Amino acid sequence: MPHSLLQRRQQLLATLGDAIAVLPTAPLQVRNADAHYPYRADSHFLYLTAFDEPEAVLVLDGRRGKSILFCRDKNPDMEIWDGFRYGPAAAVEAFDFDEAYSITELDTRLPQLLENVPALFWPVGNRSIDGRVAGWLEAVRARARAGIDAPQRFGDLLPLIDEMRLIKDERELAVLHRAGQISAEAHVRAMQATRPGMYEYEVEAELLHHFIRNGARYPAYESIVAGGANACTLHYAANNARLNDGDLLLIDAGCEFRGYAGDITRTFPVNGRFSGPQRDLYDVVLAAELAAIAEVKPGAALDAPANAALRVLVQGMLDYQLLQGTVDGVIESGDYRRFYMHGIGHFIGLDVHDVGARKPGGQWRTFQPGMCTTIEPGLYIRPDDRVPVAYHHIGIRIEDNVQVTASGHYVYTAAVPKQIDDIEALMRG
Ligand code: GLY
Ligand code: MN
Ligand code: MN
Repeated sequence: MPHSLLQRRQQLLATLGDAIAVLPTAPLQVRNADAHYPYRADSHFLYLTAFDEPEAVLVLDGRRGKSILFCRDKNPDMEIWDGFRYGPAAAVEAFDFDEAYSITELDTRLPQLLENVPALFWPVGNRSIDGRVAGWLEAVRARARAGIDAPQRFGDLLPLIDEMRLIKDERELAVLHRAGQISAEAHVRAMQATRPGMYEYEVEAELLHHFIRNGARYPAYESIVAGGANACTLHYAANNARLNDGDLLLIDAGCEFRGYAGDITRTFPVNGRFSGPQRDLYDVVLAAELAAIAEVKPGAALDAPANAALRVLVQGMLDYQLLQGTVDGVIESGDYRRFYMHGIGHFIGLDVHDVGARKPGGQWRTFQPGMCTTIEPGLYIRPDDRVPVAYHHIGIRIEDNVQVTASGHYVYTAAVPKQIDDIEALMRG
């Protein structure tokens, strides 16, 4: 078990002081009838345990400094059908817990653990546990006449873990880089495979093929493979249209590797050659992306990339007569939102849209080494009488994953080309 996992639990235990924290993993989800979705553990739970079975709860006992796992029992009959389960005895060894018990003992052991504990933290508002917490408290309070105190202070556990997850440690960075690398290679493969007349799902298959054969069984989110006008639907996921000669193809896809997400977007011509109008707008989005990435550095405010990208995008909108006026006037009025209506990016980690308050206490946070963010400006031109016809139905986004380093930043998804000449050369090859 990586040493960093123990460190994370110890750091959280230190933050808890005398308190107890309870963190359940995610439930198995039914897809239909008796078929389930592929199991995905809760990200906070994974971060602290690396334990990947459903029906598990982590308890951190701050006063005794102990990490306690509740998990499914060994079950030889069920294991014939569903595969290996650790069971408490093996889990305690393999994942370095101090104690482990059957999940069936949770409701009897928790009231005991909570006796005379001043404070309790859990993911407040998580339906699968709020009701159980109430039951445990009721059981401890019932013992008041025996001189037992129940917790009197309560708090949301997740923000404490969010702050830790915001800064990635060396092990996490290595896994994120690998997720980014596999995702980038998949985009290269998709670019090389794309031809007019193919269906979007055929290109999607190229991405998934590369993910899976590299040990990343699932995408980190639904892949967007959007030809032509479909790129103007931001969360397009049908991926079932035919690719036309002369159209652009926008692909937003990334794999999940060992729990960590990649999230890359590239936009390129289906036939391998950008047209004049496509080139105009592509160069604007690329310049915006590069301007935003340049702002990612320690000490810079989190909104600096968005502000830099917006000025470049708005200047482009004016240059190509999508809008009239001045850069400052258009930013002031918000008119640019007709063509650019989403944010510049998000933290990335175990979740593709990773945790961490962006504006704690109302002030923009500053970038710190170990943070990872996406940068993903775009332009989306829906048909409109006020806009030159040549640009109608063009949708372009360019997205990379960027780590904040001590001296600036590292774009760890750069292996997939984004300069026009490089894209055209790759597609000719
Ligand atoms: N693919 C989701 C996003 O770019 O935020
Ligand atoms: Mn994306
Ligand atoms: Mn993204």
